[in-house]
Amino acid sequence: MRRTQYVPTTDWLPLDKSPFLMRVVILTDAAQVARRAADVICQCVNKKPDAVLGLATGGTPLGAYRELAERFSRGQISFSHCTSFNLDEYVGLPVSHPESYRSFMDRHLFSLTDFASDRCFLPDGNAADFEQACLEYERGIAEAGGIDLQLLGIGSDGHIAFNEPGSSLSSRTRLKALTQQTREDNARFFSSIEEVPELAVTMGIGTILDAKQVLLLATGSGKASAVRAFIEGPVTSQVPASALQLHPHVTVLLDEAAAAWLVRRPYYDHVESIQRRLEQATKAPSEG
Ligand code: GLP
Repeated sequence: MRRTQYVPTTDWLPLDKSPFLMRVVILTDAAQVARRAADVICQCVNKKPDAVLGLATGGTPLGAYRELAERFSRGQISFSHCTSFNLDEYVGLPVSHPESYRSFMDRHLFSLTDFASDRCFLPDGNAADFEQACLEYERGIAEAGGIDLQLLGIGSDGHIAFNEPGSSLSSRTRLKALTQQTREDNARFFSSIEEVPELAVTMGIGTILDAKQVLLLATGSGKASAVRAFIEGPVTSQVPASALQLHPHVTVLLDEAAAAWLVRRPYYDHVESIQRRLEQATKAPSEG
């Protein structure tokens, strides 16, 4: 009997969204992760030029920011109508300190693109009244219409933003004390661990879960254990990123090293191949 290949119908497929709620994409290296992350961000901004972007700091998103800056300089993308809200900020560092997250964002993204400086928000790490400042940050996000796309890295202990293990899964923007592990991990950006602030203001896990779409990046072997725990372990406040299992639209981009501990790896690759077939089938013939 002659077998014909099964071709799924695609009429039901939303073009801008995977039908799989948590899409786990495993790529060869960090450079590919950066390019794919930039693709997802550009797709969001092309579709909605006044998109509200949730932005992240740390070493992981740097490649994606470089890629966005290059695409901007080639005239391929503009952020002039976007608004951005960063995840977090250290408490007590002057804004002008090179390791404040404001300085980081200016250096690696804002000054290299056309983001409007009066629409790039970060939590205030030097507020006179933190409770009030955190409420205002939440209000600002709501008044902007909510976050369309939230970019995330992940800490080696599974934290997202500065929501350390044990953070309430419904937490909102607030002060958090950093764990010793996080301070050690981030000490590489300072001259010594003593210089790493002990406190930060961070969006809560509840704030992050309210974003319409989430894009989490993880690269390198130091993230393999956290990646396994948040994707394949139980939803628990002990692994804050595991709360993303409850979110309806998450894309996780991993390099081989970060994906190394995933037990269900063959399944993710299989689902991804279906996803790519669906995308191919829904492309207009001119798109190739
Ligand atoms: C910090 C940030 C997080 C980031 C994490 C991982 O703690 N607050 O947003 O995800 O570091 O950083 P890196 O990408 O440098 O590993």
